[in-house]
Amino acid sequence: MPPCRICGGSVIEFADFGRQPISDAFRLPSQTDEEFFYHLAAGICQSCTMVQLLSEVPREMMFHEQYPYRTSESAMMASHFELFAQRLLETELLDSDPFVVEIGSNDGAMLKAISNAGVRHLGVDPSGEAARLATQAGVRVRVDFFEKSSAAAIRCADGPAKVIFSANTFSHIPYIGSVLEGIDELLADDGVFVFEERYLADIIASSSFDQIYDEHFYLFCVRSVCNLAARHGFEVVDAEHLTVHGGAIRYTLARTGRRRPSAAVAELLDREATLGLADLATFTRFATNAKTIRDDLMVLLRELRSQGKTVVGYGATAKSATAINYCGMTPDLIPFVCDSTPGKQGRLMPGSGIPVRPPSAFSQPYPDYALLFAWNHAEEIMANERAFHESGGKWILYVPDVHVA
Ligand code: SAM
Ligand code: TMP
Ligand code: ZN
Repeated sequence: MPPCRICGGSVIEFADFGRQPISDAFRLPSQTDEEFFYHLAAGICQSCTMVQLLSEVPREMMFHEQYPYRTSESAMMASHFELFAQRLLETELLDSDPFVVEIGSNDGAMLKAISNAGVRHLGVDPSGEAARLATQAGVRVRVDFFEKSSAAAIRCADGPAKVIFSANTFSHIPYIGSVLEGIDELLADDGVFVFEERYLADIIASSSFDQIYDEHFYLFCVRSVCNLAARHGFEVVDAEHLTVHGGAIRYTLARTGRRRPSAAVAELLDREATLGLADLATFTRFATNAKTIRDDLMVLLRELRSQGKTVVGYGATAKSATAINYCGMTPDLIPFVCDSTPGKQGRLMPGSGIPVRPPSAFSQPYPDYALLFAWNHAEEIMANERAFHESGGKWILYVPDVHVA
């Protein structure tokens, strides 16, 4: 077992999802070279409690020119980040000429509002096509990986940052020590590092095993983030529970001793202890639940096929790579998956080779059932596709258990 990437402690494996493809590698049907697979397993460090993957996919294979994910494909997420930008403008950015950096700025969903307010900013993201969309929206972007060396170069060129923000990216970076050293270098003395990430407690509570995939190298909770921050001279001074992506926490870190931690931090730490978030038994139960979901879902899909019912997938999410390949779903069970992202359409789902089609294919004709891989966007997608349900179509969901709605 490899040692903990944070503290070098010993890591105990609790879940094994087998051979998996790169979750956002949507290949063209014409591509004939061999697809890359790695072994997906997760463990928990016995010393610092950080939940982490046991093997790492090289970063350039995941995040590159054609990385397809776009934040703004969800109107709800676009508005979530715009609201947060407004909040930053009214709180942390009141000094004269503040500077904001975002790690993993993608299509600029957050920095757009910062740019529109005339505030100095920089997005850092290695995904060239996403960065171009951000640039078109008026956002300044450095197409690069954020780490110690790029942070030093930014500090040299632009000076210290009052706020460094990151959403759904910090947990994607195995070399997280280098990122924190970079933040230490770049952040103003009284600055804050704010980041949002899916919350381990919610993942456990909803048995959402599909939140485990190559990009999610770490699964954070307040306790493990406090331990990580302390190793780099930072302290968690606020932790806000969010509902996005199935449950997330917005952590605020400041240099140790600079700000008084809010009551929410202690409350969440207490709650995590009650939930047994550092106990191996909690994770063993989670892995058992994942197996039950896999078995129940495959029984349902095979039963529907034997009844002559049609089922298509909805949402070519990165999460669905784990769900599809762990369960062993094939094109004869799910003939295609609908997704609104242009860079995924006309391509194949990683591993399974199930085709991705635009949402317009959904109604031609409607299937009997739709398996909702983008369950974190259920409200938005079900509202967009109201006519499907009204015409008798049913949604299949698989977390926290397999059910039909
Ligand atoms: N922040 C957006 C959001 O929450 O919707 C995008 C999240 S997307 C899942 C992760 C983004 O992080 C991608 O755009 C990827 O290119 C970027 N990324 C990955 N590693 C990075 C690194 N070391 N530095 C900066 N960005 C990185
Ligand atoms: P995510 O769960 O990683 O945010 O990915 C959501 C996926 O679902 C993304 O590929 C875009 C897609 N999607 C749709 O196809 N239609 C929609 O209405 C929404 C909100 C997302
Ligand atoms: Zn550790």
